Amino acid sequence: MPTVFFQTFGCQMNVADSGALMRALAAHGYMSVDKPEDADLIIVNTCSVREHAEARALARIAEYAAVKRKRPGARLWVVGCMAERLGEKLKEKTKGIDAVIGAPSLADAEALARTYLDKNKYAAAASPSPGVSEFVTVMRGCDNFCAYCVVPFVRGRETAVPADAIERDIRERVFAGVREVTLLGQNVNSYNDNGLDFPDLLRSVAAIDGVVRIRFATSHPKDLSEKLVRAVAETPKVCRHIHLPAQSGSDRILSLMNRRYTAAHYLSLVNILRKTLPGADLTTDLLVGFPSETEAEFEETLRLVDKVRFTAAFMFAYSVRPGTAAAGLADDVPRETKIARLNRLIRRQTEITRSAYGAMVGQTLEMMVYGRLENRGEVFLKGQDAGCKRVLIPCADVKAGTILRVRAVRSSGMTLIAERT
Ligand code: SAH
Ligand code: SF4
Ligand code: F3S
Repeated sequence: MPTVFFQTFGCQMNVADSGALMRALAAHGYMSVDKPEDADLIIVNTCSVREHAEARALARIAEYAAVKRKRPGARLWVVGCMAERLGEKLKEKTKGIDAVIGAPSLADAEALARTYLDKNKYAAAASPSPGVSEFVTVMRGCDNFCAYCVVPFVRGRETAVPADAIERDIRERVFAGVREVTLLGQNVNSYNDNGLDFPDLLRSVAAIDGVVRIRFATSHPKDLSEKLVRAVAETPKVCRHIHLPAQSGSDRILSLMNRRYTAAHYLSLVNILRKTLPGADLTTDLLVGFPSETEAEFEETLRLVDKVRFTAAFMFAYSVRPGTAAAGLADDVPRETKIARLNRLIRRQTEITRSAYGAMVGQTLEMMVYGRLENRGEVFLKGQDAGCKRVLIPCADVKAGTILRVRAVRSSGMTLIAERT
């Protein structure tokens, strides 16, 4: 059997694309392996969102090119967002890359496998073993052109995967053992399949037998509708977790970022969410050091974080992306200032996250079991509550995909330790 090794960088979208590519390769007999040394095909799925993400991918590609040289006949594919941005130039940067395949081409993984695989090497079909929780791409690309962001350039214009294709895909996965799906798009709130919108899609996915939990990301604050909030509230299978990237608490910066909402609008959405979905987890993305951001404007972001009290946040320092609108502005916040702001923000948010987890101690939760985890000789089951909180319980004999009622007994900052009730 031919073997394949995947290294996936970047966001959940890339994880979903790697999964789809793995399924397509398995249909051609490929088996996945854990070490690049054992692979006939090494695939690096790349991210371009920050300079650092590209630097890490480039370093890894160079390592794998060296590994590949020791295994005659092995091939190296570089796929995804950086493959789209840099294209064939990557082959000049690193010798040994056999194919460069941009993110838009990953939309049709089956066609891609047919095009790029050496037909003589096909073996019988193997089936990859799915996890209990998987990502399902419902929209590709993005039309929003936030000033800092490379995604619209590397993933192209926004397109909706037709609802019937999504349902078929999910039914197949449920048949293979999947119990939880996370529906993915850069801005799921603008999903539109001939008039069928995202709240409609949520309800139709919830109607699929065997789907136990549904999650989704990402919601854009300019498009989050009351209809969506209602659909979440009325559909028990949908988890109580909204990921709503704020990026900044300053209206001037939000406007320069082309986000098309104000901090006041963001807070009004938070109010609606808190009322309609009491106890739900709100999470966000925050970006500091955007061109011309002053100390006072940065502090408005801190104030937003204090007001909302997010369960968790992804926080980043601005990095110039060639070709974006913000690349035309002077990157004038000094690196040390960006890092200092980022650290202040992380410290503040970490305290809030700790207290959100701490407040759960003593409470009963519904935990979906994802799998086992070994930590210093102890075995745990790991999973997630009906929001976004990670939960561990001392090992019990239950299958992945089971929902357990557990009581949180302790919080270790960003994980709840629980016991069966
Ligand atoms: N579609 C999502 C975000 C996808 S990119 C949304 O609209 O919110 C994930 C996160 O990376 C962004 O939310 C942003 O916080 C961060 N990011 C994007 N471009 C960046 C850049 N040039 N520098 C630093 N962080 C960036
Ligand atoms: Fe990037 Fe904005 Fe699109 Fe999100 S909505 S992917 S931040 S352009
Ligand atoms: Fe995701 Fe990075 Fe591409 S964040 S969409 S993998 S640029």
